[in-house]
Amino acid sequence: MTKIDTKSQATPRSLPLNQILAGDCIEVMNSLPEGSVDLIFADPPYNLQLKGELHRPDNSLVDAVDDHWDQFSSFASYDRFTRDWLAAARRLLKPDGAIWVIGSYHNIFRVGAELQNQGFWILNDVVWRKANPMPNFRGKRLTNAHETMIWASKSEAARYTFNYEALKSLNEGVQMRSDWVLPICTGGERLKDADGGKAHPTQKPEALLHRVLVGSTNPGDVVLDPFFGTGTTGAVAKMLGRDFIGIEREEAYREVAQKRLARVRKFDSEGIATTKAKRAEPRVPFGQVIERGMLRPGEELFSMNSRHKAKVRADGSLIGNDVKGSIHQVGAALEGAPSCNGWTYWHFRREGRMVPIDVLRQQIRAEMEADETGRRPN
Ligand SMILES: C[S@@+](CC[C@H](N)C(=O)[O-])C[C@H]1O[C@@H](n2cnc3c(N)ncnc32)[C@H](O)[C@@H]1O
Repeated sequence: MTKIDTKSQATPRSLPLNQILAGDCIEVMNSLPEGSVDLIFADPPYNLQLKGELHRPDNSLVDAVDDHWDQFSSFASYDRFTRDWLAAARRLLKPDGAIWVIGSYHNIFRVGAELQNQGFWILNDVVWRKANPMPNFRGKRLTNAHETMIWASKSEAARYTFNYEALKSLNEGVQMRSDWVLPICTGGERLKDADGGKAHPTQKPEALLHRVLVGSTNPGDVVLDPFFGTGTTGAVAKMLGRDFIGIEREEAYREVAQKRLARVRKFDSEGIATTKAKRAEPRVPFGQVIERGMLRPGEELFSMNSRHKAKVRADGSLIGNDVKGSIHQVGAALEGAPSCNGWTYWHFRREGRMVPIDVLRQQIRAEMEADETGRRPN
């Protein structure tokens, strides 16, 4: 299959696409080709520093994240780890690539500082507000109801992918904001181990990854997750027709992720397509309408309700009721309005009908497009 690279930065054939790689993510990332990945989604250890067991009011034990992979001896050792994996991630990104890192108050500020130290350019911090957070059982602090995701491009100059229209469409036509209310992963989505317990303590919801990948990647892009866990990133990438690379150190999690990925099916191609930004239409000065002889100097234009009229002048300006200026300025002055779209306001008469001058602009644009594509306008 021929890959279409939307950012003119080719994806090397040697990449181990759609695989889970075993080992330490820093070593594995350093073994992969430089500048080869479009997006990195990272859910690193949070260094939660949990001390002692936590019980609910009914005395049942909370299944907290106390795993060995989340433990660091000090902030300094966590910072070293963050520095090293971020440097490896940065090396892997294409020049126009970007990274998302998710974390909590325990680690996200340290990660954010290191991102900036290394030259990443922070684009947004997104607050994932949990619709169903775990209560604060001790009642000594606020309920911890959100996590933070930092979205950063490789550099300030990077032409990173942002599917503005697709996210707006996902949000029912309203611009997507940086606070996302989504439930934590529960019910049927939560993967279970042989004893019916959680297969992984920090499995992220697919909805979160869906939004991230729809918003910041295109079909065929390569998405790498250095802390793959149960493979949430890979599962959503596969559904959406993106290629993934997962890295995970723990064999048990790799097995869970492998089984999960085997069950996942790619959505059909029409389903994967998303709303694209409208191509900006070329600017057409009103003067061109005169130069091309579509309207003659001295010809009269009329407002929609025929209350006002103005004459066309050879330089593309109008004069009406002693007011001179552009089609927009004269329209606004005659209406006593702060602004006016002259293209839709002014009309000319043809065969007894009033025709908006915008029709002439559309005709010029169609000719420009035909010149570009070599096609004849209809
Ligand atoms: C917070 S969890 C990620 C969970 C994942 N997002 C999911 O939805 O299942 C972090 C994962 O990183 C793995 N990990 C920690 N340090 C690692 C390292 N140095 N190299 C590779 N994997 C590592 C852990 O085993 C753990 O599964």
